[in-house]
Amino acid sequence: MLKKLVVSAIVATFSLPALAGDASPESAKAIAMPFLKQLVAENQKAVAEGGPESAIKVCKEIAPKMAGDISRKQGLKLSRVSLKVRNPLLGTPDAWEQKVLKEFEVRASQGEKPETIEFSEVVQEPAGKYFRFMKAIALQPGCVSCHGSSEQIPENVKARLAEEYPFDRATGYAPGQIRGAVSVKQPM
Ligand code: HEC
Repeated sequence: MLKKLVVSAIVATFSLPALAGDASPESAKAIAMPFLKQLVAENQKAVAEGGPESAIKVCKEIAPKMAGDISRKQGLKLSRVSLKVRNPLLGTPDAWEQKVLKEFEVRASQGEKPETIEFSEVVQEPAGKYFRFMKAIALQPGCVSCHGSSEQIPENVKARLAEEYPFDRATGYAPGQIRGAVSVKQPM
């Protein structure tokens, strides 16, 4: 119950103007950027307050809840996707997202800073026309306790992860690498 309250309080502080009908890189960014910033801040706060194990809830509960609430309220789909997912249910990229994530890797290998890498496109699909936007998520030093190398992940966190995500592929990352992307898909 308390956990629920904490999550809704965090989500409640995160309000955005409705952007219906306004599909552009700027509007997508206006949704994706605060979401990302808030996540990193929540992560730092949770790690500082209760150590890495208590920060699991940020990636596991707060992030999907925020993404779901924003999606419903804005009439679009906001999600976090990756080529190496921990949670295949929420994080598996569709074909367009896979292509863009692969291009992000190429751009990073050519020297672009992951923090600045993004891409948008208008895509025609059988269900209609969509404005699509993706922004790379760079791994921060604070993320390695759950997404880093085996030596960087504390034993208690490793045990929780093994129990909850037996098919986890989201480890072995170093700070500065692309962990995945925030994806916005908005009907036009
Ligand atoms: C305390 C552990 C922990 C920390 C620290 C952590 N994560 Fe996660 N991360 C998780 C868990 C657990 C999931 C799976 C969430 C779910 O069930 O949807 C996850 C999932 C993700 C996903 C969604 C894609 C996927 O693999 O399922 C992204 C993106 C992500 N984390 C990025 C980050 C970034 C960036 C940081 C640092 C700012 C970070 N994480 C810090 C535990 C953590």
